[in-house]
Amino acid sequence: MKNGFVLWFTGLSGAGKTTLATSTKKILKDCGMKVEILDGDILRENFSKDLSFSKEDRDINVKRTVFIANLLARNGVVVLVSLISPYKDSRQMAREQIEDFYEIYVKCPLEICTERDVKGLYKQVLNGGIQNFTGITDVYEEPESPDLVLETDKFNIEESIELLLEFLKTRNILSAI
Ligand code: ADX
Repeated sequence: MKNGFVLWFTGLSGAGKTTLATSTKKILKDCGMKVEILDGDILRENFSKDLSFSKEDRDINVKRTVFIANLLARNGVVVLVSLISPYKDSRQMAREQIEDFYEIYVKCPLEICTERDVKGLYKQVLNGGIQNFTGITDVYEEPESPDLVLETDKFNIEESIELLLEFLKTRNILSAI
């Protein structure tokens, strides 16, 4: 059995990480691959309820996710990680610890994420209800050399998925499993 690989979606809350990971999962599953999503909201609800949004805890969040991603990938699973993962050093750590790691920067201006406000969180932040919120009261360190950038304010979901599939094909990532 061949190893899987890890697509690590990073970006602001509301940038479109989960949406893109969900569509990607469906397409790859339809092609017969084993696919799992490790999503920040779901992990924090079920597995990392003990963690806050301090840098220390976000780093632990990344470390735990790397651990599970590696377990899955070595069993031939394609792992789609959807975590804000705002810090360069912890994303670098993930890159170093995962054999087939691809960083996908889901890029969207803060103003648009705030306008979208899918979960109503930006409103709460602006009302002072949430501390250390990424992009507003906490930092998001943009990836310097991601493997792929998907600009969700410029391209719709279908177009972004098209770009992602093109990337997987040209880099021979799909044919490797
Ligand atoms: S990470 O920074 O540790 O990678 P993660 O992706 O797990 O973050 O969780 C982010 C999700 O938690 C957001 O999409 C949002 O729904 C929620 N959230 C709650 N508080 C915060 C906060 N202070 N900063 C960012 N996201 C938050």
